[in-house]
Amino acid sequence: MTDQEKGERIREIVAAYPADQRHALAALQDMQHAFNFIPEEGLVELAKHLGCPQAQLYSMATFYKALSLTPKGEYIVKICNGTACHLRGSMNLATSLKSELGIDPGQTTEDGLFSVELVNCLGSCALAPVMVVNDTYHNRLRVEQVPGIIDSYRQGGASDE
Ligand code: FES
Repeated sequence: MTDQEKGERIREIVAAYPADQRHALAALQDMQHAFNFIPEEGLVELAKHLGCPQAQLYSMATFYKALSLTPKGEYIVKICNGTACHLRGSMNLATSLKSELGIDPGQTTEDGLFSVELVNCLGSCALAPVMVVNDTYHNRLRVEQVPGIIDSYRQGGASDE
């Protein structure tokens, strides 16, 4: 996407909402969805449109986990570190991911393919430990399965392991 296309898309998103601060979160979510993060220009345009301080939008963008001010990977890998998953070795999964991808939770690979996040309970405690890649759950995951799963995403497909 060129800078011009990005600017046009931002203006479209902003214009779709009435100039009322109640719509700030929805517009930010739309930007996140469109760009996989919220560009600085998006914050500027939206603040102008809603007549609110840019700092207020910045606070929202940093508060909500679903929003990001930096580009996220094409694949968001979430390692659950809730109690059940932690007790069943979720941190070993995170260590394995680090050796596969070279990044810690909260980081994105240089090729923009993967972001890793450590999250609380994903609601599948009986199937712990759990890793979710985008919307695909990998349940009762064993450390030795991690490289193969990551490889399957590198090749553009999902693994059902
Ligand atoms: S603790 Fe991991 S799914 Fe609940």
